[in-house]
Amino acid sequence: MYNVRDDEIPFVEKWGKDHGVEVKYTTTTLNQETVEEAAGFDGISCLQTIPYSKELFDSLNNLGIKYLSLRNVGTDNIDLPAAKSNDVKITNVPAYSPDSIAEFAVMMALYLSRKVGYMRQQLNQNHQYHFSPSFMGRLISEQTVGVIGTGRIGRAAIKLFKGLGANVIAYDKYPQKSTNGQYVYVKSLDEIYAQSDIISIHMPATDDNYHQFNHEVFEQMKDTALLINTARGSIVDTNDLMYALQSGEIAGAGIDTIENESADLQDSRSTKQVTDPDILKFSMMPNVLITPHSAFHTSEAVKNMIDISLGNLKQMVEGQTPEDLVD
Ligand code: NAD
Ligand code: COI
Repeated sequence: MYNVRDDEIPFVEKWGKDHGVEVKYTTTTLNQETVEEAAGFDGISCLQTIPYSKELFDSLNNLGIKYLSLRNVGTDNIDLPAAKSNDVKITNVPAYSPDSIAEFAVMMALYLSRKVGYMRQQLNQNHQYHFSPSFMGRLISEQTVGVIGTGRIGRAAIKLFKGLGANVIAYDKYPQKSTNGQYVYVKSLDEIYAQSDIISIHMPATDDNYHQFNHEVFEQMKDTALLINTARGSIVDTNDLMYALQSGEIAGAGIDTIENESADLQDSRSTKQVTDPDILKFSMMPNVLITPHSAFHTSEAVKNMIDISLGNLKQMVEGQTPEDLVD
C-alpha cells in the first residue's frame, strides 16, 4: 500500500489480521522511483491525485503486478488505455462516504456565507475581537444553491442544503429519473450560473469540463455568488478564479481541490512549506476557504476506503471479479 497516512495504519493492520493477509505499507507516493518497492507483491493499493502514467503501468507490467486497487473515487488521473494494454486491472471505491464530502461542501458554504474568514482575519492579523459590518452574513434558507453533478455526493449535498431550507436547482449531463421533489433540474448550465447564489460542483473531471469555470462563466455568475469546488481542480481555471475574486465578479470560493495538486499533498509526513503562489494568495483571502483536498477525510470514510479497497484487491488476487472494477 502506497501513500499510507498514520491515521490509516490501525485500519490496515486490523484488516490484515482479520483476513490473514500480509499487507506491507509505505508512506511514499507511487512513482517511477518507488514502484520497485512493490516487486514480489501480488497487487498494490494506492491513493493519489497525481497521474498514474503509461510509464508507471509499463513498470508494473515489468514487475508482474496485475492489480491496482484505488482507495478513492476519482479515476481521472489514470491512463486507462495504458493500464489495459499492460493488462493491469483497476478497482476504485465509488461510495466510501458521499456524506463526508457533501458535509464538507456545506461547511464551506456556511463558512463563506457567514463571513467566518473575515472574523478570523480580524482576530489573527489585527488581534481585534469585536463586531464588524463585514461579518454580516446570509441565511442559506434565503439562497438558491446550484448543484452540478447529481450523483452520490451531489445528491447527499442536496439533502443537506435542503435541510437548511435552500432552494436547490441542479444540472447533470445524465439526470436522475426522479428528484424526489428535492430539487429541480434546469435545462442548461447558463441557468445554474445566472440563478445560483451558491454553486457546488460534484461531477468527475473529464475532457469536456476542463476549465468549465472560466472568465466567461464568472462574468455570468452573480457578483454575490459563492463557488464551492470539492470535485476536481481542473474544472476551474485557477487564474480566472483569482481574477474573479479580486475583481468582484464573484464573492467567495471554497477550494478543496485545485489544479496541479503536487505529490506532496498525499504525503502526510511531509514537512515541506507551500511555495505555490496561488495557494499562498488564496490562503490569505478572507473570502476564500482553501483546504488540502480533505473533504473525504472522516474516520468513517477512511475505514471504508481501507476495507473496501483491500477487499477488492483480495478478490482480484483470488481470481474473482469485484463489482468496483474500473473500465
Ligand atoms: P458519481 O459518479 O456518483 O456522480 C457524478 C455525477 O456527475 C453523475 O451523476 C454524472 O452523470 C455527472 N456528470 C458527469 N459528467 C458531467 C458533466 N460534464 N456535467 C454535469 N454532470 C456530469 O460521483 P460522486 O461519488 O458523486 O463523485 C463526484 C466527484 O467528486 C468524483 O469524481 C471526484 O472527482 C470528487 N471527489 C472528491 C473528493 C474530495 O475529497 N474532495 C472525494 C471523493 C470524490
Ligand atoms: C476521491 O476519492 O476521488 C478523492 O478525491 C479523495 C482523495 C483522497 C483522492
